[in-house]
Amino acid sequence: METQTLVLNSEKDIEGLRQSGHIVAKILWEMVSQLKPGVSSQKLDEIAGKYIKLLNAQSAPKMEGFPGNTCISVNEIIAHGVPNKRILRCGDRVNIDVSIKYRGYFGDVAFTVILGNSAHETNKLLECAKRATMKAIRLSVAGTKVNEISRAIEKEARDNDFTIIKNLCSHGIGKRLHAYPTNIINYYDPEETLILQEGMVIAWEPYISNGAIRAIEEDYEWNLTTHNQSDVAQFEHTVLVTKDKPEILTILD
Ligand code: CO
Ligand code: CO
Repeated sequence: METQTLVLNSEKDIEGLRQSGHIVAKILWEMVSQLKPGVSSQKLDEIAGKYIKLLNAQSAPKMEGFPGNTCISVNEIIAHGVPNKRILRCGDRVNIDVSIKYRGYFGDVAFTVILGNSAHETNKLLECAKRATMKAIRLSVAGTKVNEISRAIEKEARDNDFTIIKNLCSHGIGKRLHAYPTNIINYYDPEETLILQEGMVIAWEPYISNGAIRAIEEDYEWNLTTHNQSDVAQFEHTVLVTKDKPEILTILD
């Protein structure tokens, strides 16, 4: 296993991460504002592609050989969804995950929505997933044990009779999409000893489900699904750890 080396972010690094965080938030917002029944995920992905090109940024998934600018996962596809021509319909659950590299720094953000009738506002699974991410963010101050945050995420899911997808992790982010601390598990692990430090930047992205605990590959393609086609929701934000108040880098002001 690769040993994790601690590289604290400098002021310059943090400024770079603020910029890339702002860009992914902007792209996601543009995509969500065009997201409606009748549009295809490929069409949404083209919006992202246009912005990425305009800003001279790079799509992080594309850098990994992914056939799209962003990951758009629909219904039984829970993550790494390849954008396609299928028309989205009322009631479809759609997750958009935008990650880019801009001037050497990465930003990563994701959002889940159910199409039509403001269904997402009353959907328990989506609300729970949002609260789980927000709890992790609020606890992201220097001195907090990472496994206490993971415990809070797990508790949020359990209290609502939901499960955590255990093999999808949150992660540090910086000059790489997955930087130190990598592979932060989203459930309580007594052996995790990491303590958050000022200057760390973390992308929290717990996947919450109504019945699955693992993501599995579908047909050796990019698309991830579950063994029983469970519902899954995920919200992701990139967050700067400070002494007192976490700073969300992927929010538009
Ligand atoms: Co991420
Ligand atoms: Co992401």
